[in-house]
Amino acid sequence: MSLPTTSPDSGAQTADLVVFGGTGDLSMRKLLPALYHSDRDGRLSPETRVIALSRGGLTDADFRGKVDAEVRDRVPADDPAGWRRFLERLHHVSVDVGGADRNGWQALAELLAGHDDRDRVFYLASPPRTFGPFCRELEQAGLVTPRSRVVLEKPLGHDLLSAQRINDEVGAIFDERQIFRIDHYLGKETVQNLLVLRFANAFLEPIWNSLWIDHVQITAAETVGTPGRRGYYDHAGALRDMVQNHLLQLLTLTAMEPPARNDREAIRDEKVKVLQALRPISGTEVDRFTVRGQYVEAADMPGYLDEPASTPPTEASRRVETFTAIRAEIRNWRWAGVPFYLRTGKRMPYRRSEIVVQFKDVPHSIYPGGTPNRLVLRLQPEEGIELHIMAKAPGAGEVALKPVPMSLSFGKTFRARVPEAYERLLTDVLAGNPTLFMRRDEVEAAWRWIDPILSTWETSADLPEPYPAGTTGPTGAHELLGRSGRAWHEEEL
Ligand code: BG6
Repeated sequence: MSLPTTSPDSGAQTADLVVFGGTGDLSMRKLLPALYHSDRDGRLSPETRVIALSRGGLTDADFRGKVDAEVRDRVPADDPAGWRRFLERLHHVSVDVGGADRNGWQALAELLAGHDDRDRVFYLASPPRTFGPFCRELEQAGLVTPRSRVVLEKPLGHDLLSAQRINDEVGAIFDERQIFRIDHYLGKETVQNLLVLRFANAFLEPIWNSLWIDHVQITAAETVGTPGRRGYYDHAGALRDMVQNHLLQLLTLTAMEPPARNDREAIRDEKVKVLQALRPISGTEVDRFTVRGQYVEAADMPGYLDEPASTPPTEASRRVETFTAIRAEIRNWRWAGVPFYLRTGKRMPYRRSEIVVQFKDVPHSIYPGGTPNRLVLRLQPEEGIELHIMAKAPGAGEVALKPVPMSLSFGKTFRARVPEAYERLLTDVLAGNPTLFMRRDEVEAAWRWIDPILSTWETSADLPEPYPAGTTGPTGAHELLGRSGRAWHEEEL
């Protein structure tokens, strides 16, 4: 079997990728493995360098040793020479971020000196409060060139105002076309396939509307809790952590109008229109259309308040939601009257992210026992698409109907490795293609819809509804659909 190797004439632009928080969790778990895969597949030019910044006081050799020890197990082990070549791309610069010591910035400037003709990507895998200050530091150190880009990791602010402030601060140094705001869900294979499925096939678009579709469910369920993350999670909660970004992105791609072209702005223009068409939920409606829950101890799993953390739980911990479900509506011709149910939670019984499009029943049924068609777009665990159709169960007796799934598993069908989201996104950043990144107006439109829900929750005397760890969320979530005779997807399986 021949191994893919780094091609010396891969055609990729040479770049210096500077990662703030370069020794942190995201970098070690996601970015470096993704970069290694890009390297294997010949998508990095031979001179491209990865420069990690941290306070760690590491030399290049220390950093390469750390990556060798911590990342090696996360990537295929069948090409030791390729792995060694990859390690040689890696550099480390110790920077006293936010401190008075300028030596680190000077060292970074020296490493980058003479390479102004390369693409330069500053990846901020650091908390959002650092985005503005880091961009200013880069400018003061004279490191921002016309070929520079900046990548911002979520969360982008904690409400509309803070998001606008960050956008202003970063926008004072970089043009919008240079700013790449990551939502890693957009890099998932199924998410991109959703656009292909909708816009490269003729059969779906005529029925992709309120005449044919009863409702849509978008779920991101996780089995993990939040051990060790309370410091972040107490101030985030499921709404900020998952809905404002990942779930709303899935909603926009499901609901958007066909763009005129497959280009960076045409697609994002259509997505923004969906966010702007979301019916606001505020005041007393928040109680009717949203549910929040917090997991409590069950089946040997700790509750949110008992998760290991460096500090004891506070009032903020008691009020934070680890689960939320929302009934959203889109006010336009295509979707009037079609609810979009969004749901996400920690410590649920399964890890599953999916979009379920539930079609209406047949107008006149001649068979008893039929159920309406359903299209399931699965993002994880196994990426694929299922169309649930009605078929006749074999047998000579009375006709009996049975729903059967027509399944397409991307992994099995294409017999190819399904790339991790970060691989696709890093490739796009290095190629300067922003289509799968959030534009400023998108992020702000999403916060504009989220803010009234957040502020109602924050001023409410009620606490999130408890749900036992390992279950599908609080009763309120089931009632949210049950009121209209609907149910969450798994409950019918
Ligand atoms: C992150 C959230 O953005 O997405 C995490 O901060 C969450 O809380 C994660 O666990 C889920 O990502 P994925 O790709 O595992 O669904």
